[in-house]
Amino acid sequence: MPNVKPLIEKLEANQILSKEEFYTLLTEISDQDLLYLRERASTIARKNFGNRIYTRGLIEFSNHCKNDCYYCGIRRSNKNVPRYRLSEEEILHCADTGYTLGFRTFVLQGGEDAYYSDDMIVTIIKSIKKKYPDCAITLSIGEKSYESYQRFYEAGADRYLLRHETANEEHYQKLHPPTLSLKNRKQCLWDLKEIGFQVGAGIMIGSPHQTETNLVEDLLFIKELSPHMVGIGPFIPHHQTPFAKETTGSLRQTLLLLSIIRLMFPSVLLPATTALGTIHPEGREMGILSGANVVMPNLSPTTVRKKYELYDNKICTGDEAAECRYCLEGRLNRIGYQLVVDRGDYKPFPNLSMSDKK
Ligand code: 5AD
Ligand code: FES
Repeated sequence: MPNVKPLIEKLEANQILSKEEFYTLLTEISDQDLLYLRERASTIARKNFGNRIYTRGLIEFSNHCKNDCYYCGIRRSNKNVPRYRLSEEEILHCADTGYTLGFRTFVLQGGEDAYYSDDMIVTIIKSIKKKYPDCAITLSIGEKSYESYQRFYEAGADRYLLRHETANEEHYQKLHPPTLSLKNRKQCLWDLKEIGFQVGAGIMIGSPHQTETNLVEDLLFIKELSPHMVGIGPFIPHHQTPFAKETTGSLRQTLLLLSIIRLMFPSVLLPATTALGTIHPEGREMGILSGANVVMPNLSPTTVRKKYELYDNKICTGDEAAECRYCLEGRLNRIGYQLVVDRGDYKPFPNLSMSDKK
């Protein structure tokens, strides 16, 4: 086994690794060095955020989707999903519940559903902002035009999540139908950034056909984009998709990537995802202890939760918003962390090199 400690130290000193060095780190790290790396990553997170974990209330407002991504349970071709849409009133009701529970960020997530025109999205953003001006709004509604993004931003949306899924062209084509392109995906991310959103990119760990070289390319792309948030979780097969028989992404590799990202981006907002909590009962806790600093419990009405199954066995589909909120708080407390009531905006920390600034 090569000694990867110098590579970890290099990352900590805010130096970028070469492709070969990243590859070595990803493929050759021993269990013992992984523990060391995770410890370094959580130390950096604690230095920057203390024991404070930001929380976002996730509102999954539509499971209609015009896309047909091979990995996703709510893809258009899946005829077995009962489809639903929340009305503006229902979305606001979720926000009310969330606000009472202490959430100061709402994430509006949905499939790419043309039913919601730009005007409707703008109205929804404005109503939430009017009622709760102290809250941040994050959108996660896929690829749109520059003009649409601009309108959402002007209406008051603060952040936008759009995982790039993979930075490798061929790999992208293996995960998506020909109607979708990596080029457009990346363009959307650059547009969002230019407009002024706090932007989140990200990937699934262990998605079908993903190689370690692809992961290196992802890290280099993320470095180039320098997003404010990075969403990563394991790939989990959904039984009604073309990837039904594929293997679940590993816990070990997900934690490894979380820690590398924390080292590369000391101030980035990094969630311990629901998918991570799905592959292991303490997955999210382990994510926090590997450098993650955000949790995103579900605020969607329990009546629709089961219908937003992007992958099999998704946790929390039977729980009320309050149950998830207090469950997560308990989980965090048990590992020495605190769930905070705060918008939790991206703040570049002092003493960082230019590459980590906004
Ligand atoms: N397993 C894990 N994550 C998934 N996503 C979609 N399908 C799956 C799956 N089967 C992730 C994608 C998407 C985000 C909303 O959920 O990365 O960007
Ligand atoms: Fe939903 Fe634990 S977070 S029940």
